[in-house]
Amino acid sequence: MGKIPENILNEIQDKCDIVEIISSYVSLKPSGRNFKACCPFHHEKTPSFVVSPDKQIYHCFGCNSGGNVFNFLKEYEKIDFIDAVKMLAEQTGVKLPEYRSHDDQDASVTSTVYSVNDIAANYYSGFLEKSGLSSESNRYMTKRGLDGPIIKKFRIGYADSSWRAMLDYLSARGIKQDAILNAGLIIKGKENSYYDLFRNRIIFPIFDARNRIIGFGARVMDDSLPKYINSPETAVYKKGQHLYGLNFAKADIKEKNFAIITEGYLDVITCHQYGVTNAIASLGTALTAEQIRLLKRYTHNVVILYDADQAGETASLRGLDLFLEEDMNVKIATLEKGHDPDSFLRKFGKENFDEAIKKSKSLFTYKLDILKDKFNSTEPESKAETIKEMLSTINRVRNAIIKAEYIKLLAQELSVKEDAVWEELKKVKGTPRHSLRSGAGQAGCLEHGAKKFIEISPAEKILARLMIEDVNVIKIVRDELKPSDFKNKDIRNIAEALFSIDNEDSLIDINKLINSIEDKVPQNIISFIVNEEVDIKDKERNVSDCIITIKKENRNKLLKDIQNRLHVAQKSGYEEEEKRLVEEFNQLMKRGL
Ligand code: UTP
Ligand code: MN
Repeated sequence: MGKIPENILNEIQDKCDIVEIISSYVSLKPSGRNFKACCPFHHEKTPSFVVSPDKQIYHCFGCNSGGNVFNFLKEYEKIDFIDAVKMLAEQTGVKLPEYRSHDDQDASVTSTVYSVNDIAANYYSGFLEKSGLSSESNRYMTKRGLDGPIIKKFRIGYADSSWRAMLDYLSARGIKQDAILNAGLIIKGKENSYYDLFRNRIIFPIFDARNRIIGFGARVMDDSLPKYINSPETAVYKKGQHLYGLNFAKADIKEKNFAIITEGYLDVITCHQYGVTNAIASLGTALTAEQIRLLKRYTHNVVILYDADQAGETASLRGLDLFLEEDMNVKIATLEKGHDPDSFLRKFGKENFDEAIKKSKSLFTYKLDILKDKFNSTEPESKAETIKEMLSTINRVRNAIIKAEYIKLLAQELSVKEDAVWEELKKVKGTPRHSLRSGAGQAGCLEHGAKKFIEISPAEKILARLMIEDVNVIKIVRDELKPSDFKNKDIRNIAEALFSIDNEDSLIDINKLINSIEDKVPQNIISFIVNEEVDIKDKERNVSDCIITIKKENRNKLLKDIQNRLHVAQKSGYEEEEKRLVEEFNQLMKRGL
């Protein structure tokens, strides 16, 4: 990495305490020399998240996420390394050098996209403001009932029908074509010419939770299609990772302890105009686990408020099961037929809106009501069908008591024996994801690459540990093995970082080591190793055994490879090749380890 000078990183880390930083997000309890908590990165009931004040490293033994204070912030705040450093630099009062990241393509692209977007948003909103009340764009604002303050707050704008207005404007400000392209504001036409993506549309900037503009949605002002054009995916805008309006709603979501999820830009904007400031939108697509986890930082309760025509769809209901898997409470509110939150608020006002929210039903009740309507619930087959559909939802409820209550209720509602429902539950196919996570301990959380931990051969794992614990071991290993001798790519990564540690150092600075590695999994492996108390006896012997094992494994792989090729050569009668391979085989055998 090394884009921010190492001494600056050290200075920041010296000035802050990981325990203090993590405490501001997670409630830590002392446990021996360490601190413990339930992991904020996966669901668990017994704490396996450990923070070590001595090492300034955290690790979750449940989902294997871990690292230093920068890793924690990255993961928790969903920000990149540079932003985590900036955040702590600010808190600790460490001055960052004027930062031009030549070596850091990614970070510079990212920050350029944000600033290009910001300039573009100003241009679009300036255009709307300037275009006068009788312009088509402002008449459209009036027609949609949007007032000045809300237009300003959401930075709504307008792109005129020119094919190059944005391109010319940004170019005139010295912004390179590449940067404009990276922001997704222009597209390539014929013969390397470029033109504006958004033309003659109302522009809705899309913000991330930290108020940065990550992309745009652009709506036509009539009935033509497509109704919206959205930014393509860019370095900062990934579909299904953000929630529209969360930047404006997050405080109120925390305060009210629930969020209202709508479908569209205008639903959110109108909600906020009417003082419903805990409303956000999924932007038309089915909610993803990432969006749900993002929201979970602020609340565990959501009310779904989809367009009236959408809400009853079984498909969109199935999507809601995801909330249960993430241990969130979901309720569903319904609106008068033909309305969406925007049109409902304008027609019936906030009081009626609040009433509709208050009347929202739990996912269980809501779904059951729909199914009871759909199937005639006196016939055994219909009952079975209803129960099957309901059980796929109930099966995802994480709380055992709630689950049992729902089973009881379902049995009562359909007048069937509760035992029979339990019996059916056992047959529900597809294990919900969380059961893979919770029970399995170390093998838990899949997205943190825990699976990869298991694939590591014991020799590589032990050697990595021994090197991390003792600089002298690194020197021994470096003389015997190349990084490429390690089969596991994450251990290879760690070995590379360890091998390039300065010979003079007598102690390994774990934080420095982590900072010198870019990928998450090797960082997680390091935090695992340093937080796990293992006492390896007879280290010297272990080091040489592991080196030999790794060499043997590698040689065996090579030999097997040659044998395979030999087999092919013999079969196809390539004598020259055959001779060469036999020679190679013998050489390898002779050479020893
Ligand atoms: P809607 O069709 O419900 O639009 O799509 P809306 O937001 O209520 O807009 P109005 O009230 O008709 O003006 C809901 C969301 O789906 C996405 C947009 O994010 C929209 O806000 N969508 C819809 C698209 O991305 N593209 C489309 O063509 C249509
Ligand atoms: Mn609408």
